[in-house]
Amino acid sequence: MWARAFVGLLYAADADILLTGYNPWGNFSSNPSGDVAVLLNGSRVQNVMIRSVRVDVSEEGVLEAQGYVSEVGWDAIVHLGFENVAKGLKLETVAWNNRALNRGPVAPEGPQFLPTTGDLGAVALNTHNPHELWSRDAGDFFCNEIYYRTLYKIRQEKWRRCKGALVPSIFIHVPPVQQLPLEESAEFVKSLLGDLVHASGCPGQSSLRRWWHAYG
Ligand SMILES: *[C@@H]1O[C@H](CO)[C@@H](O)[C@H](O)[C@H]1NC(C)=O
Ligand SMILES: *[C@@H]1O[C@H](CO)[C@@H](O)[C@H](O)[C@H]1NC(C)=O
Repeated sequence: MWARAFVGLLYAADADILLTGYNPWGNFSSNPSGDVAVLLNGSRVQNVMIRSVRVDVSEEGVLEAQGYVSEVGWDAIVHLGFENVAKGLKLETVAWNNRALNRGPVAPEGPQFLPTTGDLGAVALNTHNPHELWSRDAGDFFCNEIYYRTLYKIRQEKWRRCKGALVPSIFIHVPPVQQLPLEESAEFVKSLLGDLVHASGCPGQSSLRRWWHAYG
């Protein structure tokens, strides 16, 4: 509850980039996705602040994340997950309409697949990271579910970052630290966030001004 209250109070006035990562689970004593989120918490890209939250790898965690996603008009929403066999940072290009538990769809009336709302052309142009991998399969677990839920909200409810541009969102799978040190993963994620915001087609604007515009 305190976390929701915190997000509601602080984030409302300054809607920026929401970055989610996961807590450790199962036999893993740490989770690089959550660690990267914490490392970037509070830093700025393209003049917007990164606000990080960590959630559990569970249905409760996914729903908690959805709560943050729905809070305010974010500039971008990026979810991080951990994949222990990944060789680099995997940019998930599409989410599948499938619930981790109980199977069945996330949204019964929703399309089977939803693509990222980020401009990947700009990402490809700007990043020069040898560890960048493209993926069309975010799995069938909570990582995929969290991603579908966010894309469904953005697309269904037409959340715009500005006129003519949907809020950019992408899911990134982070590899084990033995594959890529945490600082390098964080650096790459940060440059990606910058590209996503920069490429969203919206002129630079103060979040406060936008907030007044949207809610005032
Ligand atoms: C966790 O480790 C135990 C013992 O090595 C093993 O039996 C179990 O399958 C592992 N669980 C997962 C989710 O990897
Ligand atoms: C991010 O920073 C805020 C403000 O310092 C803090 O309240 C929040 O718990 C941090 N998030 C994470 C995931 O550590």
